[in-house]
Amino acid sequence: MGTGLGRLAESLVPAGGVPSEGIPYEEIRHFPRSTSVGHAGRLLAGTLGGRPVVAMQGRLHAFEGHSLQEVTFPVRVLRALGAELLVMTSAAGGLNPLYELGDLMLVDDHINLMGDNPLRGVNEDALGPRFPDMSEAYDRGWLSAAEETALAERMRVQRGVYAAVLGPALETRAEYRFLRTAGADAVGMSTVPEAIVANHAGMNVLAICVITDRCLPDALEPVNVAEILRVAGEAEPRLARLVEGTLERGRAARPSMES
Ligand code: HPA
Repeated sequence: MGTGLGRLAESLVPAGGVPSEGIPYEEIRHFPRSTSVGHAGRLLAGTLGGRPVVAMQGRLHAFEGHSLQEVTFPVRVLRALGAELLVMTSAAGGLNPLYELGDLMLVDDHINLMGDNPLRGVNEDALGPRFPDMSEAYDRGWLSAAEETALAERMRVQRGVYAAVLGPALETRAEYRFLRTAGADAVGMSTVPEAIVANHAGMNVLAICVITDRCLPDALEPVNVAEILRVAGEAEPRLARLVEGTLERGRAARPSMES
């Protein structure tokens, strides 16, 4: 759960044996710490949309100083716990001029511009293949389920390409123009490393962004982090309904592999 979006966790129905206040990341061995504003840094468990869920309240970013291996370590933990689907939420800048502030965007595909890959280094064959396929990084079945849920809930959703940058500096006008020309609809500083590791591990991925600022190179306004958090917070109840409804109705087009 990304920037300003950690309250989705409040929709979790507690499950037996898991403390309802969750487990702070620093109490989990090898877990990096979440230092970003709007990220609590706790692992929670329960059910959501009738399915068993482990949730990360607060995500980790490379710009905090973590390597992409560290950023994605929790995905491997979730996989080891038996997770078949990785659902991610985040705040992102809108490059598509038709997007409005507060729009939800289902990630259809991505462009990795972080300059690194979490799978760099010796491959752990037990976890996944050396050269993982990324031809359908975001499962079509879950995307359809999310779109059907949005329709049923009368919610406006977009579907687009997410470009990942390292940050923490926001982009220049020339960079936004470049990203749009490259085919991206939204830009953010997360999601892609986790999606790569989840695909490597044979998991399905569903990623949803809130468009928290508009990144139009010819009409760019200075970034306002308080405003980003406000827009994310305003979208949060809608996002929570979308995720919960999607989990209720969804199924994967491509079955996740046995973990
Ligand atoms: N750029 C990168 N990351 C972001 C942005 C942006 O404009 N907005 C929210 N996250």
